[in-house]
Formats: sequence, structure tokens, C-alpha cells
Amino acid sequence: MTAATEGARFASRRHRVALERRDGAPVVRKTYADAEAARRERSAYERLVPLGIRVPVPLGWETPTGDDRDGGPPDLVLPYVDGPTALDLLEAQEAGAPDAPRDLSPWRALAAWCAEFHQRSGLALGDPNLRNFLRETSTGRWFGIDFEDCAAGDAADDFGALLAFVVTYDPARTPWKQAVAAAMREAYAERTGVSAECLLARQADGERALAERRRLRAAQDGPLPLAN
Ligand SMILES: Nc1ncnc2c1ncn2[C@@H]1O[C@H](COP(=O)(O)OP(=O)(O)O)[C@@H](O)[C@H]1O
Ligand SMILES: [Mg+2]
Repeated sequence: MTAATEGARFASRRHRVALERRDGAPVVRKTYADAEAARRERSAYERLVPLGIRVPVPLGWETPTGDDRDGGPPDLVLPYVDGPTALDLLEAQEAGAPDAPRDLSPWRALAAWCAEFHQRSGLALGDPNLRNFLRETSTGRWFGIDFEDCAAGDAADDFGALLAFVVTYDPARTPWKQAVAAAMREAYAERTGVSAECLLARQADGERALAERRRLRAAQDGPLPLAN
């Protein structure tokens, strides 16, 4: 696995997400900061898995361990998906890393994952930031994770929000990011019949909403730049 060691923590704004081993196999344990987030994520997985949407299938919901965990919501235990997040891939391509050729096909495949998610579930992801998509290196398949904000919602708006993330990660709106977003709009349009022009308009809405959220967060947090 990619330099991942047992006990390693993944970046999480609110929760504790750590790598563990079960019978020799790597798993990810997510300990929730609040019961409501845990409840929403669990009910999302319970809907998505039977629909055959490609997500890591939960191995269990387990009583949290540790001193002050009594009474907390169950931890989610997932199989580890070995590969980069969509953000890792985008950044590696942007940097011209030799092991990340500038290939648009992963982005078309990510758009296809989203189209399938929207069409099969009728739900919106709610938080389609690029850390919530993992690309398994051995197969090239995408897996979605992090469904705390998943709920009924407009599919094109949800996809527009994802495109807004794509183009605004630092450095924003580079030619490569614009090419990625265009390829994703085209692939999503092909599968859903929503026009690429409509998706571009939803992306612009998403960019405005994201700029406002980042402005509010920067005002709360002080001057540090934030990734999402
Ligand atoms: N099953 C998994 N396999 C590999 N990495 C994972 C897995 N689940 C989570 N991660 C990593 O942990 C990070 C945080 O998990 P996530 O569920 O998105 O928590 P948060 O709600 O804090 O964003 C992800 O961005 C990803 O890098
Ligand atoms: Mg996340």
C-alpha cells in the first residue's frame, strides 16, 4: 500500500480516520465526532451498497475503543482502498509527476461513477470534494467515500459542485484543471443527457458557492489558506 503504515491518520477535518490491520489486511477505522454524522453515513451506506454503487463495503460498525469513547456512536470500519484520492491524482498530474501521465481517462471514469451514483440512488453526494474519491491503483476503479452529507438533492448541482472543486484547488483554473473539468462535463453529459452547457452553468454556481464558503471560513480561521 502507498507508504501507509498501521495507525497512520488520514486528513480529517472533524473525525478520526486511521489505518489498522485485520487478519493481515489493511482497514480504515472512522471514529465520529458526533452521532448525527455517524447516523447519516450509516444510513447512506445501507442504501448505496444494495444498489451496487462502487463504495468500500463496510466491514462493520464497531464500538469505539479508548478512554473517553463510552457512549459514542459506532466506528465505521472499511476495507482500505489502495490508491490516490482524486486530489492526489490531480496534483500529481499538475506537477507533471512521471508516474502520473496527463491522462484524461481517469476523469471521464470519475464522471461516469458520479452519473451512476446519481442515476441509481437519486441522491446527491452533498460534499463532493476530491478527497472523497479514491482510485484503486491495481484496477483503476473509482470508489466514493464519506457520505455524511449525502441526501436528496439535485444531481446537476451536485456534479457542478464537484467541478467547482476540480478547478479551484490551488493553483486554480490552470489549463490542465480546465481540461479535466471539460472532459468530466462531456462524459457526464453523455451518460445522463444533461447538456455540457448546463453543467458549465452549474459549475459556475458551484464556484460562487465555494468562494463564499471559503471566504466565511477564512474570516473565522484567520489568514491561512485552506484546501477545501
Ligand atoms: N476506505 C478507505 N481507504 C483508503 N483511504 C480512506 C478510506 N476511507 C477514508 N480514507 C482516507 O481518509 C480521509 C478522510 O476520510 P473521510 O471519510 O472522507 O472523513 P471526513 O469526513 O473527515 O472527510 C479520506 O479523504 C481518505 O484519504
Ligand atoms: Mg472526506
